[in-house]
Amino acid sequence: MSDLPPVLVTGSSGQLGTDVVAAFGDRAIGVDRATLDITDEAAVGKLIEAVEPSIIVNCAAYTAVDDCETNVELAFAVNGVAPGVLAAAAKSVGAHLLHVSTDYVFSGTKADPYVETDPTDPQSVYGRSKLAGERAVGPDATIVRTSWLCGEHGPNMVKTILRLADSHPHLTFVDDQRGHPSFAADIAPALVELADARMAGIFHLTNQGVVSWYDFAREVLATAGHDPARVSPCATADLDPPRPAPRPANSVLDNAAWRAAGRAPTRDFREPLRELIAILT
Ligand SMILES: NC(=O)c1ccc[n+]([C@@H]2O[C@H](COP(=O)([O-])OP(=O)(O)OC[C@H]3O[C@@H](n4cnc5c(N)ncnc54)[C@H](OP(=O)(O)O)[C@@H]3O)[C@@H](O)[C@H]2O)c1
Repeated sequence: MSDLPPVLVTGSSGQLGTDVVAAFGDRAIGVDRATLDITDEAAVGKLIEAVEPSIIVNCAAYTAVDDCETNVELAFAVNGVAPGVLAAAAKSVGAHLLHVSTDYVFSGTKADPYVETDPTDPQSVYGRSKLAGERAVGPDATIVRTSWLCGEHGPNMVKTILRLADSHPHLTFVDDQRGHPSFAADIAPALVELADARMAGIFHLTNQGVVSWYDFAREVLATAGHDPARVSPCATADLDPPRPAPRPANSVLDNAAWRAAGRAPTRDFREPLRELIAILT
């Protein structure tokens, strides 16, 4: 146990939460949904009063993007309202809140990468609920928007692509949605830096290197020793059936505020991709 004040990490068994707990080391107290449902206001207040953390990192979220289209109330309760409850509880004990958000707060129609000050215009229930969460945490919190998150823990596109590659000779991925793949192993330590510095405001934090899902699938196959020519491109409009929630065509988040704060640029995604595939295969 550390002598430093504790850091409370919600959603601690999720993909990002697991790596964030590891990144804070023995300062971290991780709570998963079974221990703390963040929509339970009384439980949130009671736990935070008991733990008296100096930092709270909210990695809990309802992330099933398509399911959010039908479970609207739950999406807004978890992603929209609960972050505000965490912010109020944080304030009551003098803790700093770092809240994780998403590229889905944007429409994806901009030609260039999105900077932190660009107008938001979410097109899905998930995106609208996450934007409500950003607004609920207030100006004192750190809001980190990331995109296309992959890691060792929990389901993600790297694992999906590797699984499909084992069972299908040919794979098809859209080439009209582009973004910055981001790896929990790199994002988690960066969150520690931002949280420890108590840097309020919005930060875009991703790995570097713009690709479409088609390009990314080819990178994953090549890195895992498969023939990337097994992947074919298609258009989002050709997906049958179409996905219930619209995806942003442009998910590219420029890490402008992170750079302006004097931080070193994050790595090209191909480096953590290689490391993740070495772990997974
Ligand atoms: N994954 C991506 O591509 C991506 C991209 C951009 C931004 N983000 C953001 O990054 C953050 C972390 O995402 P992730 O990929 O780590 O998602 P994840 O693996 O789905 O983790 C989210 C965790 O939150 C928990 N949770 C759900 N409802 C809860 C509640 N009411 N109370 C407490 N915990 C609850 C989930 O528990 P259960 O499993 O038990 O439901 C899960 O362990 C989220 O804010 C997400 O919006 C993700």
